[in-house]
Formats: sequence, C-alpha cells, structure tokens
Amino acid sequence: MRSDANIAGPMTDPVPGPRTESMGEDVSRETPPPMDDTPIGRAAQLAVEALGRAGEGLPRPEQTRVMVVANQKGGVGKTTTTVNLAASLALHGSRVLVIDLDPQGNASTALGIDHHAEVPSIYDVLVDSRPLAEVVQPVPDVEGLFCAPATIDLAGAEIELVSLVARESRLQRAIQAYEQPLDYILIDCPPSLGLLTVNALVAGQEVLIPIQCEYYALEGLGQLLRNVDLVRGHLNPTLHVSTILLTMYDGRTRLASQVADEVRSHFGDEVLRTSIPRSVRISEAPSYGQTVLTYDPGSSGALSYLEAAREIALKGVGVSYDATHAHIGAQSDRSMVEGIQ
Ligand SMILES: Nc1ncnc2c1ncn2[C@@H]1O[C@H](COP(=O)(O)OP(=O)(O)O)[C@@H](O)[C@H]1O
Ligand SMILES: [Mg+2]
Repeated sequence: MRSDANIAGPMTDPVPGPRTESMGEDVSRETPPPMDDTPIGRAAQLAVEALGRAGEGLPRPEQTRVMVVANQKGGVGKTTTTVNLAASLALHGSRVLVIDLDPQGNASTALGIDHHAEVPSIYDVLVDSRPLAEVVQPVPDVEGLFCAPATIDLAGAEIELVSLVARESRLQRAIQAYEQPLDYILIDCPPSLGLLTVNALVAGQEVLIPIQCEYYALEGLGQLLRNVDLVRGHLNPTLHVSTILLTMYDGRTRLASQVADEVRSHFGDEVLRTSIPRSVRISEAPSYGQTVLTYDPGSSGALSYLEAAREIALKGVGVSYDATHAHIGAQSDRSMVEGIQ
C-alpha cells in the first residue's frame, strides 16, 4: 500500500447510512427470499454451489487470521461486510468468529444473536476479564459461524477501560486465551477511533477497510491509517491494512466508478477486485436476523460477498485470484443461480 498521507481530510462525524427506501434498485433482478420450508442454511449452501465451485473448497489459513473491520465513518458498510463476509467464509467451509465491538450491537442483531443487557457479552470480556469462550454463541443456520455479541453496556466500556491495566490489549489477551480452533476472526468496530477500536487493532493482524463509493469516500481515512501506523509502531508490529472493499457500488453512476478509480490509485493491490453492489436484499436481511447469504442466497449481494470471501481466502495463501466473477453485482446474476430455489 502506498502510504500517501495526503488523503487525510477533516474528521467527520458519523454520517447516517443510506435509507433502504432511497435505493433505486432493480429489485426484480433479485431472487425471492427462501420459502419457509427450505432450511435457510441449505439454501445458502446451494448458492455456493451455484457459483460452480462446489467441492473445490477454499484454502483455509494455516493460522487464525484476525481481521479488524474498521473505518471511523458510520454507514459505510462495516457491519454489513463483517457479517456477510463471515457467513460467506463459513459457507465456504471455514470456522469463523465475529466479535461485535460496536455498542449498537448491529452485527449481533444481523446474526440473529440475542444481545439484551443480561446476555454475557464482549463487555464482560473486556472489562471483567471473562473468558471469551463464555460469551461466544453459535449462529443459527450457518454451520461454523460464531458470534461474541455486544450489549449496550459496551457504550460505557470506552470510559471504563481507561483506568484498567493493559487497557489497549484486553481483547488481544482474550483472543489469545481462546482455545477453540478458528480460521478467521472478524472484528466489527464502532465508528470511532477510541479504545474499543484500538483494542481491535492491537488484537488483529489485518485491517479491512470498507469504503462506500460516495463523494468524500476517502475523507477521514488518513486518521485511521495514522492510527494503524501508531499501533503497529508501539503495540502490534504485525498489523497492516490488507484489504479494502468497495461497498454500495452502483455501476450505473459515474461517481461510483470515479471513486473506485481513486481508491484503487491510492491503495493498489489491497483493493479487492470484487466490489459489493448496492442491494436492497443486503439492507433488508438484518431485520430478519439474517445475513444476505441465508436471506436471499441467490441475490447479487449474496454472490458478491461469497466472491469477496473467496478472494480474501485466496489472497491469504498467496494464490492468484481469477476475477471472472468479480463484477457479479454489476450485472444481472440471475442466470448464475437459476434452478437453486
Ligand atoms: N451493499 C449494500 N446495499 C444496500 N444497503 C447497504 C449495503 N451495505 C450496507 N447497506 C446499508 O447501509 C447502512 C449502513 O451499513 P452498516 O453496515 O451498518 O455500516 P457501518 O457498520 O459502517 O455503520 C445499513 O442500513 C445497511 O443495511
Ligand atoms: Mg456498524
């Protein structure tokens, strides 16, 4: 990655995410949600098979890859990317843990994990040194996928952590003490660069930055990159930005392709060839406590996350990626998934 510091812009407050109703998308292209009598995990498995690579499997990393999904802007697709990539990797055969580090608990909700105030959560792990294993729950319908939920208590952790010993490395310690075998840990960060995000950066090796293909996409990223450098310099020498993912890409607008070009010229190879299209199905899935992979396995959103997961898995083991399907979302994918419903 080029370390251009000049992409820094003024710090922005979190911006609200786009609203579903304003998405001008051709919904008719998408497949209907799965029927009630179809086990949804099975339907999602069929989507993987529809990509024509069933049985081929994906290489699993030799060691657990801990990926920090961060961008201090709100509404850029961090949570959406965390849960859908995690589900995709699990459907490709990996064992994956999502750590919800945002007090909003949106990742927990999207994975159908109960996270009311009494549920043992990542707050207990960070503040009370509770073992991670005691808060991890299996995600319904997706084999191999697990979640450490966030409860609203976590909002106070940012302050409570300040006075604790080893306040920056509490998540790292918890992960190191977790004994279950895992291929990936994906950490969903809040839209800020406070102690919660610092804990994630100290715990991970890789940073995955989702970038929304909108005006000002790069604004504020300089601050995140400087924080990554600081953490690497002082606390975690292995940390690096490994992956940039373009989200909410609308191939019909010139702005989206201009932003994509700009991001690619700043970051080069770190930018995945696969981008995630704007998709109503992606935004609907969380309200059913599901990822798009189980909610509508044949949709362009599901297929593009499966493809991004594939690219990430291959990059991790140094295998070159065949980008034939990288633009899945940009066109109709109906023909690819016909017959799976
Ligand atoms: N590819 C997409 N297409 C349509 N809506 C999306 C897409 N990605 C995210 N969204 C929606 O945008 C909003 C913000 O996404 P979210 O993942 O919550 O962002 P963040 O975690 O960065 O705040 C949510 O309402 C989400 O459903
Ligand atoms: Mg979020």
